[in-house]
Amino acid sequence: MNRSDFQIAPSLLSADFSRLGEEVRAIEAAGADLVHFDVMDNHYVPNLTMGPMVCEAVRRCTRLPIDVHLMVEPVDALVPLFAKAGAAIITFHPEASRHVDRTLSLIREHGCQSGLVFNPATPLDWASHVMDKVDMILLMGVNPGFGGQQFIEATLPKLREARQRINTHADRGGQPIRLEVDGGVKADNIARIARAGADTFVAGSAVFGSPDPDGGYRTVIARLREQACAPLD
Ligand code: DX5
Ligand code: ZN
Repeated sequence: MNRSDFQIAPSLLSADFSRLGEEVRAIEAAGADLVHFDVMDNHYVPNLTMGPMVCEAVRRCTRLPIDVHLMVEPVDALVPLFAKAGAAIITFHPEASRHVDRTLSLIREHGCQSGLVFNPATPLDWASHVMDKVDMILLMGVNPGFGGQQFIEATLPKLREARQRINTHADRGGQPIRLEVDGGVKADNIARIARAGADTFVAGSAVFGSPDPDGGYRTVIARLREQACAPLD
C-alpha cells in the first residue's frame, strides 16, 4: 500500500470542545485527511456527545470530509439529518439497526458514503450479503463509548480477515471499500495495524493529547503517517 493511500482521521472526541472550530481548522492545517465525528446517544453506548447541529457547525470550519460514526440505536432517523449537516461518510453498528440493508441504502440515497462498524465481538458476517452497499468497513480496536482506551490485539487477525473479504470482493469486480480502524491507534502500534490491512486510521487521544508546542498537530499526524508505512522489526 502506498503512503498516499493511508488516511489519518483525527477524532474530535478528544478535542477541546470549548474551542471546537479552532481545533478542526488546526487538524486540517496539520494534514489530516478526514474529520472523525463520534455520535453517542447514552443508549447504544454509555456516553453522550454531539448531534447534527454540531456537525453542521464543524462543516462550516473545514473542507475536509466529515466521517460520521453513529453509535446510536435506532439509526435510520438520524441519517437524513447528518447528510443535511454535511457528512461525507456515515457508518453505523449493524446490531443497532433493525434492517441493515435498508439503512445502508438510505445513507447512499442521501448522497453519503456508507459503512458498517464492527465492535470487537461483532462477527464480520454482518457484511457478507451487503458488500456491494458498503463503502467503508470500520473495525473497532476498543469497545465504543470513550476515547483513550487500550487497543485490543484481537483486532489484528480480524483486520486481516476483513482485508481478505475486501480483496475478494474487488477481485470479483466489486467497488472499492476502505478499511478503517478506530480506538487505541497510536504511533507505536499503527505499523502493525497497517500491516494487518487497515488503510484509514482514526486517532483521538494520540492526536489531541499530544500537540507539539510549536508545530501544533502537524508533527503527530506526520508521525502517524510515517509510522504507518514503517517496516516492522
Ligand atoms: C470510541 C470512538 C473513537 C475514539 C477513539 O468509541 O469511536 O473514535 O475517539 O479514541 P482514541 O483514539 O483515543 O482511542
Ligand atoms: Zn469513532
